[in-house]
Amino acid sequence: MNNRDTRGAASNAGEPKHSASRRRFMKTVGMSSIAAATSGAGIGQAFADEGDAPTPTTADAPAAGKTRVSFTINGQMKQIDVAPNVILLDAIRDELQLTGTKKGCDHGQCGACNVHVNGTVVNSCLSLAVMHDGDEITTVEGLSKDGELHPIQQAFLDEDAYQCGYCTAGQMMTATYVLGSSHIGDSDDAVREAMSGNICRCGAYKNILSAVQSTRGKV
Ligand code: FES
Ligand code: FES
Repeated sequence: MNNRDTRGAASNAGEPKHSASRRRFMKTVGMSSIAAATSGAGIGQAFADEGDAPTPTTADAPAAGKTRVSFTINGQMKQIDVAPNVILLDAIRDELQLTGTKKGCDHGQCGACNVHVNGTVVNSCLSLAVMHDGDEITTVEGLSKDGELHPIQQAFLDEDAYQCGYCTAGQMMTATYVLGSSHIGDSDDAVREAMSGNICRCGAYKNILSAVQSTRGKV
């Protein structure tokens, strides 16, 4: 996570309470985002060149120029063949069709692509897929269990902690890390600092903070 200060609480100060109809609408929209069911190319999504794209594995050796990588993602073992320059984000989205993880800046500056790798938060746009052989990865799709939203997902709904929802998956992956980290304080300032690498272009910071703090003790 970088140290950019992304606090934007002031932009939401004094915001009126949302109407019931808007909340219903946002819940519908948000469920798809929060449950990571959104699909398709998002803002700024770039695609790897055809020759760089991951390819499904077979029993045979990987194609020339590709490397076979095995990792556990959301509790399932996966094996893919990737070119050495394929980033983890593209492998997750394009090969495994886990499109909840978003590409925002593609430069490690916005946190939209954040996933957990071996228990820590990683900008998946800055990490090569071939570096993750044997790793344990969790994406936003792995937060819910048995059809039940993770408490942070429920809190984002309850607190209206998103507008377009593009940053939401990354926000929640960082938030769950923050909430589970004993070395990060529980004050509002500590949370803002710890999540300062997650940009919200809609300026939903005030409600994101509320969602994180209201989840404390539930994870
Ligand atoms: S897309 Fe990875 S940090 Fe912005
Ligand atoms: S809700 Fe739109 S970028 Fe954060």
